[in-house]
Amino acid sequence: MEKSIIIDYNYNNFKLENKYDKVLIITDKNVHKYQFSNFIKNINHSFIEVFIVESGEESKLLSIYEKIIKFCIKTNITRKSLVVALGGGVVGDLAGFVASTYMRGIDLVQVPTTLLAQVDSSVGGKTGINIGNIKNIIGTFYQPKFTYINVNSLKSLNDKEYLGGLGEALKYAFIYDYDFLKYIKNNSESILNKDEVVLFNIIKKCTDIKWEVVNKDEKESGLRKILNLGHTFGHGIEKLCNLSHGFAVNIGTNMAFMIALDKGFIEEDYYEEFISVSKLLNLPTKFENADIYEILEIMKSDKKNSFGNINLVIPVGRGKVKVFDDIKDDEILDVIKRCINA
Ligand code: GLY
Repeated sequence: MEKSIIIDYNYNNFKLENKYDKVLIITDKNVHKYQFSNFIKNINHSFIEVFIVESGEESKLLSIYEKIIKFCIKTNITRKSLVVALGGGVVGDLAGFVASTYMRGIDLVQVPTTLLAQVDSSVGGKTGINIGNIKNIIGTFYQPKFTYINVNSLKSLNDKEYLGGLGEALKYAFIYDYDFLKYIKNNSESILNKDEVVLFNIIKKCTDIKWEVVNKDEKESGLRKILNLGHTFGHGIEKLCNLSHGFAVNIGTNMAFMIALDKGFIEEDYYEEFISVSKLLNLPTKFENADIYEILEIMKSDKKNSFGNINLVIPVGRGKVKVFDDIKDDEILDVIKRCINA
């Protein structure tokens, strides 16, 4: 796998190869409003089509996918065309799925505009759409030709969207690199102020780790599962409590930490460190009430499960995690309950 991630402070160095007959940009309403005119100036191509979806998870539907495919047919997108995903995780997953399936696959470039997409979903080639409550149940592994990250696109994000991405960035410290946690703690104020150099360093660190992990295990048969820290727990509450993905992941990480503490895998002070850094970054560790059995049901339908067992990523030391498939339903329900805001 070739590493092709460009991190920059604007879109000025965005260059396309001179080999595409058309460029289809898939984006969402928000990104179109705040980023599009800035981005499009740098596209040196005369045949550009644009498809704009609603912002939000509701766009990751089969019906929207079908609309885009029909649009591709109508506008003569061919095997020699390029799809550009300009947006956050939803646009990246949806446009990636379109690119990987239209005419059995055409080239794709990811231009992530949210922190969550920049540090996670735009790197590593996962694409997907949802069916009902089940996220990404249809999808492919499909590597983009390159990922282009403009750090300053984050300036137009609202606080909730931005903080959500920090939850995903924090994950890398717990799964792979404890020193990175120190960097985040020491720079928390600059992070909250969106200091561009600190953000550059954070995005570089996260994408380096992500690329290293994916390069070793692209199809998630082993190591890549560690990237799902907090995700399996998080998916249930994300859907039922209408929380952003990053917030749900951080609450899910709290549940994983609680299990680690209960089982004696980690010391109390490491758990306290997780709680204090979450506070520093204004990330939630608890959620409002929801049916805990329904959360467990959603967790059981997670595609990362195998042989009827839920696969859970649990911390086993500072900057280290392991995947477990033998955590009992009662233990899971117990930590979910303890994460409900009293
Ligand atoms: N978001 C987790 C992964 O790409 O594997």
